[in-house]
Amino acid sequence: MSEPDSKNAFYRGRTWSQWYAESGPLWGNEPSIVADLFLNRVSAPCRGIDVGCGYARDSLACAKRGHQFVAMDPAYDGLLKGKKAYEQLRRKRPIGGTVDFVQGTIHAFRTDAAAPKFDAILSNRTLHMMSDPQLKGFVCAAADLLKTGGYLILSAASPSDFSPDKESWQPGKEGRMAQRKDGSPPPVYFLSQAFLTSLFAPYFKIHDLFEGTDPVDAPKGAMRLNIMCATRNATP
Ligand SMILES: C[S@@+](CC[C@H](N)C(=O)[O-])C[C@H]1O[C@@H](n2cnc3c(N)ncnc32)[C@H](O)[C@@H]1O
Repeated sequence: MSEPDSKNAFYRGRTWSQWYAESGPLWGNEPSIVADLFLNRVSAPCRGIDVGCGYARDSLACAKRGHQFVAMDPAYDGLLKGKKAYEQLRRKRPIGGTVDFVQGTIHAFRTDAAAPKFDAILSNRTLHMMSDPQLKGFVCAAADLLKTGGYLILSAASPSDFSPDKESWQPGKEGRMAQRKDGSPPPVYFLSQAFLTSLFAPYFKIHDLFEGTDPVDAPKGAMRLNIMCATRNATP
């Protein structure tokens, strides 16, 4: 798979923050397939959250198109790079939208009780880093933060991306977890389409669910992703 390769000495033992600090843009600066899906569907300026934004390439692409985004990630150095790129962009020319950078995860994200709910939540290639309890927290937080009809567009590693050369299944560990064979973190919690459906269908109408790739990976051998586009159901 084409996440930072655990057999490559550069990546071994490093945290996401270190990877961002020590490398250039790992997936280039173009928007991901998730941001593309969003931008093709929504043109009126709206408010969104980019969960696991990395160095915020998707939030920046959305801000360039007039949207207001919260770029959220636990990795400090990713946010720092994103913020520098955002400031450079704004020095060059006015852009219609904005990006606010928040260090952390959606589970702990709180807004003012009077603040309006969000129109969209995007998350590219991040959900397969969440264990079952974290994933359930993500579903509840996304359902809570989105307005009725708001978009949830995400991608996560498909079980068909499992590579027996690099990973081994961990039986009994939630049935979807693979550990890198060299023991280095992070583990990968693959998400099948059936599993995504069971998680999200109680709160969301799923419009599209398909296997695809992030075009930016293609030269290295693309990671196979399950990609979902859904909207928040009305609450009874
Ligand atoms: C593969 S990168 C994707 C970055 C970005 N979405 C992109 O496509 O350019 C995954 C990101 O998820 C972040 N991450 C890991 N666990 C997370 C969690 N529980 N909640 C939010 N983000 C997380 C990592 O710090 C990393 O920046």
